[in-house]
Amino acid sequence: MAGTMVPAILAENLGKTYTRRKRKSGFWPGLRAYFSTESERFAAVTDLSFRVERGESVGLIGENGAGKSTTVKMLTGILVPSEGRIETLGVVPWRERRRLAQNMGVVFGQKPQILWDIPARESFRLLKVMYAIPDDVFRFTYDEAVERLELAEFIDTPVRLLSLGQRMRCDLAASLLHAPAVAFLDEPTIGLDVLVKERVREHLIEMRRRFGTTIVLTTHDLKDISATCERLLVLDRGRLLYDGSRQGFEERFAHGRTLLVDLGSEADAATRGALERDLADDDVTFTWDTPHRLRVECARSASAPKVTASVLEHLHVADLAVQGAELDAIVTRLYRTAKAPA
Ligand SMILES: Nc1ncnc2c1ncn2[C@@H]1O[C@H](COP(=O)(O)OP(=O)(O)O)[C@@H](O)[C@H]1O
Ligand SMILES: [Mg+2]
Repeated sequence: MAGTMVPAILAENLGKTYTRRKRKSGFWPGLRAYFSTESERFAAVTDLSFRVERGESVGLIGENGAGKSTTVKMLTGILVPSEGRIETLGVVPWRERRRLAQNMGVVFGQKPQILWDIPARESFRLLKVMYAIPDDVFRFTYDEAVERLELAEFIDTPVRLLSLGQRMRCDLAASLLHAPAVAFLDEPTIGLDVLVKERVREHLIEMRRRFGTTIVLTTHDLKDISATCERLLVLDRGRLLYDGSRQGFEERFAHGRTLLVDLGSEADAATRGALERDLADDDVTFTWDTPHRLRVECARSASAPKVTASVLEHLHVADLAVQGAELDAIVTRLYRTAKAPA
């Protein structure tokens, strides 16, 4: 299909505008809008340019509605862009979707694609024939998936009888069975429990190690990204906010440290207020995860000993831990500041 010099993905000034029914807030205006045929244009992705080389692992992140799925759909040929240029493995995806499929794996975690009425084992056999997967490749990818993702228990059960998580695992296995050059995974770990998520990450890492698979991954679980992706593309309302290494991102946006405080007893509003007033002049943010769990994010300039002393003075502390900046924390703060008025 494409020479080795062709990048995995090339996007230039890519844009996607949806036409949708006009929305109004308020009950009566909302109701009127519901019955009207008025429509408006909405730019879901704007002026997106980036290039991904073969073998890279890229985490595509951004809040709900940032345009991640729209981007993945354009890259895989499901959607036609409204503007700009796009190539996946050297071909225009929406023009040559079928040809591309030979070298591409796609997973939409929200909507597993694997055949409904037959067991996964049968689907895997069909895929082997459809994609003309060589025996040695199939032996590796099949065994790797069955073992790593622990499919043996339900591989002979019709997919429609499986849980969403089991279906997801079969779907992921199916999408990578032909060892595609590039894999697009849109929230592949959604609804999976912690241990299974770990298995999914390991499977991706192993496939990449063995076949040099290019990976584009979107997820809400940033641990997926920390484990599998070296590069980040961060989208904010359809625009590219950051493109670079994960490490570079952490260095650039990490501000300081986070204090995790578990309380022995719930703090009332007055106590919380007193603590926050005490530290009002320090560069800290308070987040109450639960009434028993407080997160204090300290900027570089904040004095950790002072913050800790204040917390101990005001609250009945059961446990306390200091964390370096985790990708999770950085991204949460970034979204918050992106939303705050300038
Ligand atoms: N088919 C569609 N028609 C109209 N608007 C859409 C359609 N699909 C997505 N959108 C809108 O485009 C924006 C981006 O959506 P999406 O790409 O699904 O974001 P993400 O995957 O980052 O959550 C959202 O505001 C969403 O409501
Ligand atoms: Mg999405």
